[in-house]
Amino acid sequence: MAVLAIAWIVPRVRAAQVPAEELLRHRATATGEPLPVPFPAPDFLGSGAPSLAGHVWIVNFIYTSCTTVCPKMTGRLAQLQRRLPREKTQDVRFVSLSVDPAHDTPATLAAFAAHWPADPRWQLRAPPADELTAIARGFRVAVAPSGIATDPILHSRLLTLVDGAGNVRAIYDGDDEQAWGWLATDAEALLAERPKDLPETGSPATQVPKNLLADLGCNGCHDRPTIAPPLGRRGVDDSYLRASLLTPNASVVAGYVPMMPSYRTTLTDDEVTAVIAALHALPAPPESATSATSALASTAEDPICHMTVGTHDPALTLRDGDHDVHFCSRACRDTFARRK
Ligand code: HEC
Repeated sequence: MAVLAIAWIVPRVRAAQVPAEELLRHRATATGEPLPVPFPAPDFLGSGAPSLAGHVWIVNFIYTSCTTVCPKMTGRLAQLQRRLPREKTQDVRFVSLSVDPAHDTPATLAAFAAHWPADPRWQLRAPPADELTAIARGFRVAVAPSGIATDPILHSRLLTLVDGAGNVRAIYDGDDEQAWGWLATDAEALLAERPKDLPETGSPATQVPKNLLADLGCNGCHDRPTIAPPLGRRGVDDSYLRASLLTPNASVVAGYVPMMPSYRTTLTDDEVTAVIAALHALPAPPESATSATSALASTAEDPICHMTVGTHDPALTLRDGDHDVHFCSRACRDTFARRK
């Protein structure tokens, strides 16, 4: 049964097709240089998906219970959304597809989305498993089998940019901070490339942010203590907070995985000052919440995907000979176990 499930989940990339991973963009586009057309995007994004015809869109794959690469990707996506202001880029769409349809029900997705900035251009959906397989194949990204049919975890940090005619135009490594900058520029270039007589799709309603930190996407990570420490810790000064925002990985709070994106290029000096003021204005988190970090002792490297991971989750730890090995996800843990 498990073998069957794996065979069913793994997308079979046709021999002639170059996988998305090998088409990654490694540099910025020179001004005026058109983007190539590697391959057409799949025209089916799951039943009930709103049409994206005429839009420039960016697709990525996540799942809401993921505590590593997905919050990092979604945090950067929130930065990208700010970088592409709604007034000028109302025809851009951000499509995040969940790869965990069994767990990510519409209610789970809505609860997840509520922690991130409300952006009417963002679609978060979980296509059913069979449709997901076809969609992943269409984007030439791999589903890493977890061995459990109901829990296919796709381990992709790729972002795919699609033009108004439905062609994939570039693929970016979401782990590469620079690539997000290229993506913003390329998306704007594709908007300008569209025929001028295209019907206006109307301005998505602007929503008033709950508050500055929510609008910036800080809560998406900092609301979940397993991902990031609660904000509002007392006894930290402005320079510490400034450094936390601009060079977050220079000093990492003990026990946490360094995944906070830098806000160096996305916030102005005045905005940084406003964020610091907003942090000081937060109620102090309970002592137990901040000291809980000491229970999350340290970090290790996942031997499968080579990400830095926490060592606190027994479900993501395996004993190998005389030492423990730690993983970012069940998918990596199971891959490791199978190779043994
Ligand atoms: C992708 C997840 C993510 C996002 C988005 C994010 N952070 Fe963080 N942040 C973390 C993690 C993980 C840590 C702890 C590890 C470290 O220090 O880098 C952290 C640490 C911090 C710290 C230091 C906390 C302490 O107790 O010392 C501050 C302050 C902070 N973040 C503020 C912010 C603000 C403000 C935003 C939004 C503008 C934000 N973060 C967005 C994940 C995130």
